[in-house]
Amino acid sequence: MAVIPVDIAGRPYDVHVGTGLLANLAEHCRGVLRKRTVPIVTDSNVHALWGDVVENALRSEGYEPAWRILPPGEQTKSWDELAATVNWLLSLEVERGDHVIALGGGVIGDLTGFCASVLKRGCNFIQLPTTLLAQVDSSVGGKTAINTPAGKNLVGAFHQPALVLADLAALETLPRRELLAGYAEVVKYGLLGDAAFFAWCEEHAAAMLNGDAALREYAVAHNVAAKARIVAEDEFERSGTRALLNLGHTFGHALEAQTGFSDALLHGEAVAMGMVLAARYSARKGLLQPVDTERVARHIEAIGLPADLARLDLRANGQVLVGHMLHDKKMDAGTLPFVLMREIGRAFLDREVDLADVASFLDEQLA
Ligand SMILES: NC(=O)c1ccc[n+]([C@@H]2O[C@H](COP(=O)([O-])OP(=O)(O)OC[C@H]3O[C@@H](n4cnc5c(N)ncnc54)[C@H](O)[C@@H]3O)[C@@H](O)[C@H]2O)c1
Ligand SMILES: [Zn+2]
Repeated sequence: MAVIPVDIAGRPYDVHVGTGLLANLAEHCRGVLRKRTVPIVTDSNVHALWGDVVENALRSEGYEPAWRILPPGEQTKSWDELAATVNWLLSLEVERGDHVIALGGGVIGDLTGFCASVLKRGCNFIQLPTTLLAQVDSSVGGKTAINTPAGKNLVGAFHQPALVLADLAALETLPRRELLAGYAEVVKYGLLGDAAFFAWCEEHAAAMLNGDAALREYAVAHNVAAKARIVAEDEFERSGTRALLNLGHTFGHALEAQTGFSDALLHGEAVAMGMVLAARYSARKGLLQPVDTERVARHIEAIGLPADLARLDLRANGQVLVGHMLHDKKMDAGTLPFVLMREIGRAFLDREVDLADVASFLDEQLA
């Protein structure tokens, strides 16, 4: 098992990465849970697969889990579920010093974290991420949010968890498509700041995705450590360091918006395509060598993620996709910062990208 400290000023916490953490949950939470009743928010998929493991782990140490089992899917990150879940926590008389547990993917983590951030002006919460995406990305760093009719993740708070336990065993039940989508965020860390890790991905990702436990632990722990460093440096995304985590996300957001944020294109699939587009656009601007661009595209494609824009059924042109970008929450006083690459492992924030140029680039890619 690896333990990675997240060194946030005033509220440091640990991320544990290993196999069997859910089965030994009570042991890892010893000294943290103050009361017999332990509120746990999850979704019905995760509950069906992992509910008994968590239930038994807590009961064996004398705890009594109180479950809130929500429907799976993005629509659960809503005002309605926020209100209902906060009311449920209030009915359990959860106090500020208590811990609420989030068991699931990013949807459950984002909603539960936001509930915890507003409950009595902020109570503690523990993340038990069960998707690869949640383990390497959403469970660490304290961004919480819900979706509103105006868009995704537009309402939320920065609220750090008190503890994160990323059980690699949970990945065993994750559908392959979700695993691959999560992998997009893994390879992102290599592309934005760690060329050696990108090379590791080229060599080991296939075996890692096929279930090699040691490779999984290395990949997740390495990514968590990278995210921990970035978040400790720029907790509130002010200096630009944290914004590098948006590599592939500005292009990706446009693709997700065009496909209605539906299962037609998962977030990670859009990010994978988005990273290829960021690489190709960087090359078009003479920043990145075409050979490196092709290396990125080849790897994404080899893993089974989308790397060819023309092959997606988008029914859009460059102008339409750029139109979606204008509603991106990263818009800042009329400009949209793009994360571009100078080399593999050397990303930077470009605040002066010409959106008309992006539209014609996208038209070329769609042709
Ligand atoms: N807070 C952040 O910093 C941050 C970062 C990235 C993404 N996000 C958010 O995360 C969300 C996406 O997260 P996600 O990809 O984990 O999606 P998700 O939570 O919807 O999980 C994906 C699917 O996998 C199922 N599932 C979860 N764990 C499973 C397991 N172990 N076995 C079998 N099935 C399992 C879920 O029920 C769901 O159907 C988005 O809402 C996104 O906005 C937040
Ligand atoms: Zn993402």
